[in-house]
Amino acid sequence: MEGRYLVNFNTKELPQLETELLIIGGGIAGLYTAWQADRTGIRVTVLTKGTIADSNSGRAQGGIAAALGKTDSPELHYKDSILAGAGLCDANAVKILVNEGPARVRELISMGANFDRHDGQLAMTKEGAHSKRRILHAQGDATGAEIMRTLASQIKEKSRVEILEQHFAVDLLVEENVCRGVLAFDEESGSYRVFWAKAVVLASGGAGQLYKYTTNPEVATGDGIAMAYRAGAEVMDMEFVQFHPTTLVLPGVPRFLISEAVRGEGGLLRNSNGERFMPRYHGMAELAPRDIVSRAILSEMAKTGQKFVYLDLTHLAKEKIKKRFPTITGTCARYGLDITRDLIPVAPAAHYIMGGVKTNYNGETSIQGLYACGETACQGVHGANRLASNSLLDGLVFGRRIVEAVKKYLPYSTGVRSHFTCESLSPPAGDFTAVKKELQGTMGENVGPLRTVQRLTQALTFFDQNSWLKKHLCCTPREMELRNMLEVGRLIAEAAMMRTESRGGHFRLDFPETVSRWKKHIIIRR
Ligand code: SIN
Repeated sequence: MEGRYLVNFNTKELPQLETELLIIGGGIAGLYTAWQADRTGIRVTVLTKGTIADSNSGRAQGGIAAALGKTDSPELHYKDSILAGAGLCDANAVKILVNEGPARVRELISMGANFDRHDGQLAMTKEGAHSKRRILHAQGDATGAEIMRTLASQIKEKSRVEILEQHFAVDLLVEENVCRGVLAFDEESGSYRVFWAKAVVLASGGAGQLYKYTTNPEVATGDGIAMAYRAGAEVMDMEFVQFHPTTLVLPGVPRFLISEAVRGEGGLLRNSNGERFMPRYHGMAELAPRDIVSRAILSEMAKTGQKFVYLDLTHLAKEKIKKRFPTITGTCARYGLDITRDLIPVAPAAHYIMGGVKTNYNGETSIQGLYACGETACQGVHGANRLASNSLLDGLVFGRRIVEAVKKYLPYSTGVRSHFTCESLSPPAGDFTAVKKELQGTMGENVGPLRTVQRLTQALTFFDQNSWLKKHLCCTPREMELRNMLEVGRLIAEAAMMRTESRGGHFRLDFPETVSRWKKHIIIRR
């Protein structure tokens, strides 16, 4: 089948390795699932295309949301998540998240995660659309790094989990809708290897690199979603991409996340005329749901003709700001900005994809033996717009549920090695990495926060014009990433074209209303 694989191969001719549970991805979802599985005696191998230090999870600033405060409850957390999700959250998935979340966070604490405290109690902040202060943070704004440090050290010191870095997962080996393993490329030796596994978990993160402006690291190229789709799995809600409202805008400087927690601690948004504008757009002002704040910023940018608005912290206690946000303070200082005195120029950038590989509440995909969690997965927990700081929690809660499901599945998984071949791809098409820039520009202009039929048509034309690449062999992991990005970009554009309404992260200028007949999910399978 055209475009089913990225390279020509014959598994019989390649080095063969074997494990029980193969996890692709070394972010919070991958490492936590690995740690849990190891504790139940499952033999686990983790493949990550970079190093575990490269994950998006490690960059998370704001924190991790959980109803642990005295005046908070899972019911309130549920209500806020549902409201942010703009009518498209799966209610049961959200119930699972908010009810099981607190235990998972306590577990992280018992593993050694050092969350910030105030007078001995866990310190909690607020972010957009939260009705309570319920976001735990670490070292101020380095929450992801602290969680990743905890997981990595537990795994290294106390588990048998094998972590193979610089291993790029190329394609899933799926036969008669059963996942048997993965074809991977070992970047160090420059050779392909076959990993046979009784079960495979996709936890390879999101796809922010599809956009020119993103908070995501270079590794976020949608590999897990693309691989699953090529193998025949269902994907869901692909049109819903979240644009974080506040990323640093400075000439020649990569976009850098300025956490929503900064607004949670009192930061105000002003347009280039110095006017505070958010109260005109929403009752929660700067702490309205993220999609609303992003669109308000874009509207002010259009009105004033500027490429940014300002985030203003100058009225807040200077020492408190420096202590609470050391990473943001330090990064801005490197670019000559003193955030306690200067206004911070900010604009929205691609941050998170709500859609992904469709799963049930146990992380099971439509392919037997294939599971997905974290940003790669979509069980409907985030609906059309994720509530801030629910994503790290999602990785833990559904990662744990996957381990329970895998435990039940393993005795029935035969681990059969039926061999696979692909010899249908044409010779390499030369270096096609130049297409990447074009793709990022096309997605930003045409499949960004404000969409129209004309823009989406342009995007789909771009994907048609580049579909010839599917017939050609990929030679390097960078080319494989680009092919994955083309696959995922097309899925986002197709779903965005289909959804003729506006809801959460998907806004159509030509269909600005939210309509009840569209209160449904778009599911795509090749
Ligand atoms: C932030 O710190 O603003 C990002 C948190 C998130 O995306 O959940």
